[in-house]
Amino acid sequence: MAQPTDLMDKLVSLSKRRGFIFQSSEIYGGTGSVWDYGPLGVELKRNLRDAWWRAMVHQRDDIEGLDAAILMHPRVWEASGHVAGFTDPLVECRNCHRRFRADNPDIAGGQCPVCGTKDAFGEPRMFNLMFKTFMGPVEEDAAVVYMRPETAQGIYVNFQNVLTSSRQRIPFGIAQVGKAFRNEITPGNFIFRTREFEQMEMQFFVEPGTDDEWLEYWKAARMDWHLSLGLRAEKLRFHEHTPDELAHYAKRAFDIQYEFPFGWQEFEGIHNRTDFDLSRHQAYSGKRLEYVDPTDTNKRYIPYIIETSAGLDRTLLVVMADAYREEEVEGETRVVLALHPKLAPIKVAVFPLIKKEGMPEVASRIHDAFKAAGINSFYDDSGSIGRRYRRQDEAGTPFGITVDGQTLEDGTVTVRDRDTLRQERVPTEGIVAYIRDRLQ
Ligand code: GAP
Repeated sequence: MAQPTDLMDKLVSLSKRRGFIFQSSEIYGGTGSVWDYGPLGVELKRNLRDAWWRAMVHQRDDIEGLDAAILMHPRVWEASGHVAGFTDPLVECRNCHRRFRADNPDIAGGQCPVCGTKDAFGEPRMFNLMFKTFMGPVEEDAAVVYMRPETAQGIYVNFQNVLTSSRQRIPFGIAQVGKAFRNEITPGNFIFRTREFEQMEMQFFVEPGTDDEWLEYWKAARMDWHLSLGLRAEKLRFHEHTPDELAHYAKRAFDIQYEFPFGWQEFEGIHNRTDFDLSRHQAYSGKRLEYVDPTDTNKRYIPYIIETSAGLDRTLLVVMADAYREEEVEGETRVVLALHPKLAPIKVAVFPLIKKEGMPEVASRIHDAFKAAGINSFYDDSGSIGRRYRRQDEAGTPFGITVDGQTLEDGTVTVRDRDTLRQERVPTEGIVAYIRDRLQ
């Protein structure tokens, strides 16, 4: 199962060709590091988001869901530390005025890599990564609001609301999936680092003193989830943050990293945020955010928080990079996205072998039966059967069903497995259940 060395280029080109991911506003020349999801991409992204939600919310009794707004009270970001501290050091070329992160290796010699000016840079200035906008019609300082740079704060400010309305007891968690925005200075590597992205975050509230144990629990649970998507274990590892790397709120933190073609990189963080966030919101809002143990009302504390924070887009890039294969089959190269069936945008493709002798009618009926069962099916009757299979291999469709002459005689169809290329004859009657059983 070969993976090409220029995998990133191949993924960008496959994404555009097959409608996974397009550059935003492409007809205007594109906009910096923002991407749009096409027909196949939006299905893959939904399936990934749904798989996370199922594992984190629906399959547990101790986690509640939430969907907080992107725009929040500006004091939230003062309390969280983002107004003062969510910054990168930036230098500007005195000639062409391009800006770079001060630690960018391309400017190490002091020469501007864009216009070539020597000694181009002065002292670094701190640049806040939050996008600002104005609430209401007047553009003045008092009306400034921020596009949230993480979804987590929407969970903290709703801690008491969720606790009271759901009647949960500690330990319990709140999960949310949503957009986040960061005015990154050096975005890049396709959808790896962008300025608009989605996060899948869960904040787990625990009694102080039990936090180390829960951190270990969530490390294991999150790694298991990534493995359950079929990702290769040898491409995944933990990286513990050194004291220099630790965020201002964290006592201990681990990244789950994937080995991308451009090196080992984080795509999920598991953080022990202590009582930092709730203490700060209590101090800044003046509202009590203590937990009172219902079994012992003398026991009150600000809960510690174990956070699991994954980028949805970045996890999607991991999933695509891990699934991409080029293989030699009968003297031809086939491109395959070996996606886990639960993530595949199209679950099954239905083909009449030829466009006559009643085959299209039978194939259409099978296709309709899948749609009625809520299984995303694709009908294709154009081109040779080999080409039709190849098109679905690239799209990551795990099963292909062909209606042929034998179908009309004995009511069976051929089911082709994308990965093994094995073909099996299955009775048409039970075909929906047969495929459904193989999707989880
Ligand atoms: N609430 C904690 C938090 O936001 P983070 O490490 O800054 O922690 C968590 O971000 C995850 O969000 C990252 O592991 C990554 O998957 C994703 N992420 C962060 N910045 C991103 C960006 N500019 N583009 C795409 N994904 C990003």
